[in-house]
Amino acid sequence: MKRLTVSLFVFVVALAFGGASAQERLDPSAPDGLRAPGTASQTMSADPIANLPKQAGREVLNYPEQPPVIPHTIRDYQVDKRSNRCLSCHSREDAVDAGAPMVSITHFMDRHKQVLAAVSPDRYFCTQCHVPQTDAKPLVENQFRPIDEVLREAIREREGGEP
Ligand code: HEC
Ligand code: HEC
Repeated sequence: MKRLTVSLFVFVVALAFGGASAQERLDPSAPDGLRAPGTASQTMSADPIANLPKQAGREVLNYPEQPPVIPHTIRDYQVDKRSNRCLSCHSREDAVDAGAPMVSITHFMDRHKQVLAAVSPDRYFCTQCHVPQTDAKPLVENQFRPIDEVLREAIREREGGEP
């Protein structure tokens, strides 16, 4: 019985690989996922860089702790140890003149929630949390629903209405 299983296995393997050329065996096709299909060793060209959508503007947050997405381009805005271009418009001193929303109080808190005089080092590198809005096609479907919607639906269901 054991010998039969082994020979069956060898037969199946021979069937699977017998037809493939040496090239295909060494460089199999890559999974067709987020990366464009092709073979494992092929270098595929990157997707074009996404642009700011035509209708960029401040967006309603999905939950209070969400870092708002940036409604303007940030191309060539330098943020390093010496200077922070974002703060030239979003700092407490400059926000009103720039017509920009000021960074909120959380940006002045250290990890112990102690409020500092200046923007906390925790929040200095803005793009760690904030990303510009883009017209990029989502890579995966997003099924997130804001809590208000979930609650409204739960109430409707409890009252026996249509979901
Ligand atoms: C030249 C001034 C200027 C600079 C520099 C600037 N911003 Fe802005 N930013 C604005 C203005 C003005 C708005 C408000 C736009 C609106 O109301 O549509 C804004 C909006 C935002 C918002 C949206 C806030 C909200 O509540 O929706 C975020 C986040 C933001 N900027 C982050 C950044 C980051 C990060 C940088 C640096 C990479 C930066 N900004 C650089 C002027 C600026
Ligand atoms: C560690 C993550 C993080 C970093 C770094 C960070 N932010 Fe934020 N930001 C948030 C979150 C979360 C919110 C929304 C809740 C809040 O205010 O804390 C926010 C809110 C904002 C808002 C909206 C404020 C308001 O009152 O509507 C602006 C503007 C902003 N950030 C700008 C910046 C700028 C400019 C920097 C860099 C100096 C920066 N943020 C760095 C997480 C971050």
